[in-house]
Amino acid sequence: MSKRTLASLDPTNLDGQRVVVRLDLNVPMADGAITDDTRIRAALPTVQYLRQYGARVVLLSHFGRPKGGPDPKYSLKPIARDLERRLGSPVVFLDDPTTEASVTAVRRLPRGGVALAENTRFFPGEEANDPALAARFAALGDIFVNDAFGTAHRAHASTEGIAHLVKPAVSGFLMEKELQFLGDAVNAPVRPFVAILGGAKISGKIDLIEALLPKVDHILIGGAMACTFFKAMGLEVGNSLVEEDRVPMARRLLEESGSQLVLPTGARIAERLDGSAPTQDVPRDQIPAGWAMFDIDPSSVTAFADIIGTARTVIWNGPMGVFETPPFDAGTLGVARALAGATAAGAITIVGGGDSAAAVTAAGLETQVSHVSTGGGASLEFLEGKPLPGVAALDDAT
Ligand code: 3PG
Repeated sequence: MSKRTLASLDPTNLDGQRVVVRLDLNVPMADGAITDDTRIRAALPTVQYLRQYGARVVLLSHFGRPKGGPDPKYSLKPIARDLERRLGSPVVFLDDPTTEASVTAVRRLPRGGVALAENTRFFPGEEANDPALAARFAALGDIFVNDAFGTAHRAHASTEGIAHLVKPAVSGFLMEKELQFLGDAVNAPVRPFVAILGGAKISGKIDLIEALLPKVDHILIGGAMACTFFKAMGLEVGNSLVEEDRVPMARRLLEESGSQLVLPTGARIAERLDGSAPTQDVPRDQIPAGWAMFDIDPSSVTAFADIIGTARTVIWNGPMGVFETPPFDAGTLGVARALAGATAAGAITIVGGGDSAAAVTAAGLETQVSHVSTGGGASLEFLEGKPLPGVAALDDAT
């Protein structure tokens, strides 16, 4: 069932309304500076639209995982200053959005004015989805817009609880776009449909593999999780990371999937994870004792790129190697370039959030793919076919 969207509301009715917008402003920061502003930039179209139509805009977001109440390290204050610069107008900061004083401050916002509440996780009951806290957040608005795709897999007071209490409760522009891209890819893919999965552990991707196998033409497997499959194929993997307890499951998947699962043909190996250690590129059946796979090798990149080049729909989740440590970034960058090439040739290409999104951004290719998701865990759960509580609680489209 599709959900009611912000775009479906008559914009002339937004004038003067208090609109609570749940964003995911959980951005990477180092020494008080934002190191990747993708999520903030992605949130702006909804905020600007509401301002343009005269709404009083109240922004809610979590930030990090504070434990046991307020912690200055996780304050959203630096984000408020950043938003002021981007919007070119003041942002009222609500230190405690659960108070009557905050309700009054929001009522006093000028039309088009913006307030940002302190980290929702500072307030007891957020993660437990406490209805009393949801009611306090709800008291701030007449309309609820959920644009926090990155947090849509969490049933929290500011995502799920509030959506039952403020009506209408609709998806924002970012949420709508994310659901459209990911939904079309898995539900109505233009074929051939290829998924690329990477990362260290097969255990975290098993539900995804099982969910995608009936839908895709191929799944290309990279990252250290390929080694668990190698082991299941009877290959020696030296000191590579293997989840021994998952080897039988990997064997079953290989048997069941036939040619759908495509493993790397070779590995970039080293004796230790160190960018200056000597490396070798070897066929997958020649990983010597004492060495470990830290990336796919160039022959695998070529083989993967050939398959990606024929695809009409591609989704990618998880790096091909330890891309933070060159030269073990080559496989991930090679796949990113192959995605850009496929996009130029007319394919729909979607990069799941988290590490693969970071890799595409680091390669400067984020504008050369169709869609880079702002949700890591959320896009994973969506692709696994799990309902996202933050979306499920929104009004159904009529
Ligand atoms: C994320 O970064 O994946 C989201 O903001 C959700 O954060 P969480 O995993 O702390 O709930």
